[in-house]
Order: sequence, then C-alpha cells, then structure tokens
Amino acid sequence: MIIASNFKTTHTRASTRAFVQSIVDMMAQTNSKQEVRIYPPFTALDTFCCNSSIKIGVQNFYPADRGSFTGEIGFEQLGEFGVDSVLIGHSERRHILKESVEFIAQKFDFAKQKGVEIIYCVGEPKEVREQGIDAVMSYIWEQFDGIDTSYDRLVVAYEPVWAIGTGLTAKKEDIEEVLLCLRTKLSCELLYGGSVKTDNIEEILLAKECGGVLVGTASWDADAFSAMIRSADTCKK
Ligand code: PGA
Repeated sequence: MIIASNFKTTHTRASTRAFVQSIVDMMAQTNSKQEVRIYPPFTALDTFCCNSSIKIGVQNFYPADRGSFTGEIGFEQLGEFGVDSVLIGHSERRHILKESVEFIAQKFDFAKQKGVEIIYCVGEPKEVREQGIDAVMSYIWEQFDGIDTSYDRLVVAYEPVWAIGTGLTAKKEDIEEVLLCLRTKLSCELLYGGSVKTDNIEEILLAKECGGVLVGTASWDADAFSAMIRSADTCKK
C-alpha cells in the first residue's frame, strides 16, 4: 500500500534528514513492504539514502523547467534531487493558494510529460458533503476536468476538505462509498486522506478500494509515521 506523509510547512532540513533516516532504518529492520512517500518542504530537499520503496516527492512545483517565475520552483531544480513524485490538487493549494482548475490541469499535463508519479487530490467541502453522495460525486468528477485519468503513473487521493487538518475523519462507509464510485471510472490506485492517525489508520485501510493513505498532521512525528507503516504491514486486507 502507499503510505504517504505530507509535511506541509513543518520540518527543517535537519529534522527532515533525521525523519527520513529513521523511516529507512525502520523499514529495513522490519522488512516492510509498503510504498512510502515523503513530501518535505522544498528547503529540505536533499539526496537521501532511501531504499527503493521510499520516494521523496514535492508538495508543489511550477509547470516549467525554468524561467521568469519569481518565487517558484521549476523542474530543473527538482531534477537535481531526483524528485519522482508530486502532489497536485491538494485542497490547501486549491482553496488557500487559489489554484484554478485550469492551472491545476496545466500542472498535471506538465508533470505527466515529465513522467513522474502524480498523487492527484480531490475532495468536497462540508456544504457539499451535507447534500449527500450525488452532490459529492458530481463535485469530485468536476475536479477531473482536463485531467488525463489514463496516465499510468496516476494515484488519486480522496481527501474531503472538511477532514483535512481538522481531526474529523470521514466514516469508513463514507470513504468506501466514494472510493467505489471513483473505481467505476478509474483504474489507478486510490488513497484516502484527512485526519488519518495511528488509531484510525487500520480501519481506513480496510475500506474497500483503499490502496493507502496520504497523511498530514499525524505523520509529522517519525515514530507515529513508523507506527502507521507498521499498521499497514500487519493489516489483514
Ligand atoms: P491531515 O492532512 O492528515 O492533517 O488531515 C492531510 C493532507 O493534507 O493530505
């Protein structure tokens, strides 16, 4: 399964290095079979001695190799660190950073051309969830406008906006219902994200069609993230 940690603006260069090393060590000791992804801030990108089941990715990028885009990071800079996985469409970038549907599609196309793994995040706000599953799915399908869902390195993360960073997790039945709907049109791996923690990860991983999790807050502690990877290892799915 894919077990991913999104650092957001947490962690320094030094603490990221220690974090990655402790996860690499734990996975080697326990012979973990999980596909781990870590998305540190740009300032902490580095060459880490990862094993093949851990990828270091980025939370954002500008869809250009280089150029006059003040304050942005292009793919040439990412290539220096061997970045092979990107997050696109995260709700914080859609809502706080105001990324438009068009710009998100442009980023998607660029990352696709580069051949990197894309974790594409979708999810509904609370007022849409309150209208029921049909409203939720029509909102989510619109987030696929302009997105090539046949891309072979696509992973989709269902992340209800109201569950991100709030401590409120979607119920297993609700997660399953959305993932099963997504499965009718998508053949890629499907993840869940939104207040995943050590004490609810197992139940979430048991949801039908759930191929892993994208975790923010509760993953920032290396011991907690290790415990989540261990839960995936022992989860009887
Ligand atoms: P959270 O964040 O685990 O803090 O809810 C999830 C995410 O942003 O992907």
